[in-house]
Amino acid sequence: MPNNNRTRMIAGNWKMNETYSEGVKLAQDLSNELKANPVDGVDVVVCPPAIDIKGVSGVIEFDHAPFALGAQNCYWEESGAYTGETAPNMLVDAGCTYCIIGHSERRGYFGETDEDVSKKAKALIAHDIVPILCCGESLEVREAGTHVSFVVAQIKAALSGVEIADGSKLVIAYEPIWAIGTGKTATADDAQEVCGAIRGALNDIYGADKADAIRVLYGGSAKPGNVAGFLSQPDVDGALVGGASLKAPDFAAMVEKAGE
Ligand code: 13P
Repeated sequence: MPNNNRTRMIAGNWKMNETYSEGVKLAQDLSNELKANPVDGVDVVVCPPAIDIKGVSGVIEFDHAPFALGAQNCYWEESGAYTGETAPNMLVDAGCTYCIIGHSERRGYFGETDEDVSKKAKALIAHDIVPILCCGESLEVREAGTHVSFVVAQIKAALSGVEIADGSKLVIAYEPIWAIGTGKTATADDAQEVCGAIRGALNDIYGADKADAIRVLYGGSAKPGNVAGFLSQPDVDGALVGGASLKAPDFAAMVEKAGE
């Protein structure tokens, strides 16, 4: 159990994995695992590829699967000539209550900037979707020792002009790029150093009352064997999980650890 009043969160980012039918099966398997071993007091979120969202939404609706649905990206406009994009109101209609934005893969491969992330955050919040806003430094920045100031600057830029009614309307995920999909994890102390600095930045932006209620997650090779160490840190409120979220028993085991 956390020693603060933030509900822990375990969120799965499936990235570009699972076809529609595979995604429905994975969601059903995860639902069965979580129902077989119910865990109270943890918010579980599943973020499938866009084409799988409706199928996973059906599993939540008809199987009463105990998790919420998130997207991996969105555009900030309401509708129009934006080929290939998905608007926040479309995500709402499909059952999403969360959306990942600013993931390092989107920043690195698709040129997403802090300004884009800020526009996406505003559009999502206007539709009552909670952004899971990602930040994190490259290996180069980490080796230069400027990771804390780099991440704080990223957070301040991405949240520029982003208003929230309360801290439950925003989630931050700290994902050091060098630890994503590499099997190389940050230590729990590394995660706390940056997550603590992020909370300080949130304090500056939103004031203590709101900042205290914003969940800050760690992501990067998080798995059942190491998640408890991260969760033991005062400013780490959960995990954003890539690879291990594709195996229902592993993901469910991480949810269980978060409930301890
Ligand atoms: P891995 O857990 O596969 O390292 O991915 C982390 C991540 O990028 C989640 O968004």
